[in-house]
Amino acid sequence: MPTSELGLDKPLAALGISEAAQVTARFAEIRALFDSQSATVHDDSQWKTFRDTWLGRKSGVLAQITDNWLKPATPGLKRAVGASLNELRAHVESQIEARRLAIESGAEESALARERVDLSLPGVTRPIGSHHLIRQVFQQIEDIFVSIGFSVVEGPEIETPYYNFEALNIPEFHPVRDDMDTFYIDLPKGAPTPLLLRTHTSPMQIRTMEKQKPPVRVIVPGKVYRRDNPDATHSFAFHQVEGLAVDTDITFCDFTGTIEYFVKQFFGPGVNTRFRPSYFPFTEPSVEFDVSCIFCGGSGTAASGVTCAKCKGAGWIELFGAGMVDPAVYGFVNYDAKKVNGFAFGMGMDRLAMLKYGIDDIQVFFQNDVRFLRQFP
Ligand code: DAH
Repeated sequence: MPTSELGLDKPLAALGISEAAQVTARFAEIRALFDSQSATVHDDSQWKTFRDTWLGRKSGVLAQITDNWLKPATPGLKRAVGASLNELRAHVESQIEARRLAIESGAEESALARERVDLSLPGVTRPIGSHHLIRQVFQQIEDIFVSIGFSVVEGPEIETPYYNFEALNIPEFHPVRDDMDTFYIDLPKGAPTPLLLRTHTSPMQIRTMEKQKPPVRVIVPGKVYRRDNPDATHSFAFHQVEGLAVDTDITFCDFTGTIEYFVKQFFGPGVNTRFRPSYFPFTEPSVEFDVSCIFCGGSGTAASGVTCAKCKGAGWIELFGAGMVDPAVYGFVNYDAKKVNGFAFGMGMDRLAMLKYGIDDIQVFFQNDVRFLRQFP
């Protein structure tokens, strides 16, 4: 209650106060108001305002009580008002002096410090999840390729045999289908085409080139599926990143240079790369890229002196398949094989993540054990 609401500007009669008990009650309210204001006075300027409010010569609370309540009081009430006023004055004066001393001695400051809300105290923390390691590695790979002009595209996980095999130059009875044969979807009789879970991200090479004229520079991160039995390096679902660059002047040097750049960015500048001849129906020539063993530094010997278990002493670790796009593939997407050339690659993401982070069982990626996940915040 502000002092303006105490009715100090009117005589007691106008406030309906006619008995001693009412006077005492009213003074008790005033005293409570004074005490509550007193508790909020912590520095010099607050103290001055406080003092003037109560002790000001002309319009201080006590002066107003004297002028408006005591002086015009009826003889019957005068005594009661005088006694209460004296009591109040004694309390007000001693308290105001006590506040002054407290503020001067600095005691107030420490009281303030004691009462201050400590904003540095920890609040209620909500656990925030983190990206799965595979998602993090996808992100790293995307960042590297985006920085050299590739864009990221994604495609369907359910494919037709045409995109998954035929248009990639893998006809129906080609032996490599045996390695990749996969999960076919149970379709109603008379469905126009069989459907399967894609065995690799390579179908997106075809889908991208169908939609877009050269130059093409894309990477395709995504999930792929194979009828593999689970073990430390196999899972029925895993992850790949496909890459495709097609233009009119792409050479084998652009190809190896790009791959080497990626591998050094991903594993660190200290690693070396090499490639060996390989075979894929949709690339010609095809290669297999190796990286110098990141566990033994390429020496083939572990720090303990024994043969490196990771590369089995070879000093090299097989990374992924790649090659120059086979001209036959261009035929499926209406590109002129005489005018364009390019390269493609397909990396096993899980394998890259396992090598980079020293993980020796692919199954941990799919078990979602928080003790594993928490190690990669
Ligand atoms: N699709 C192949 C696989 O899953 C990997 C691959 C090899 C992709 C060579 C390519 C490539 O684009 O050029 O085994």
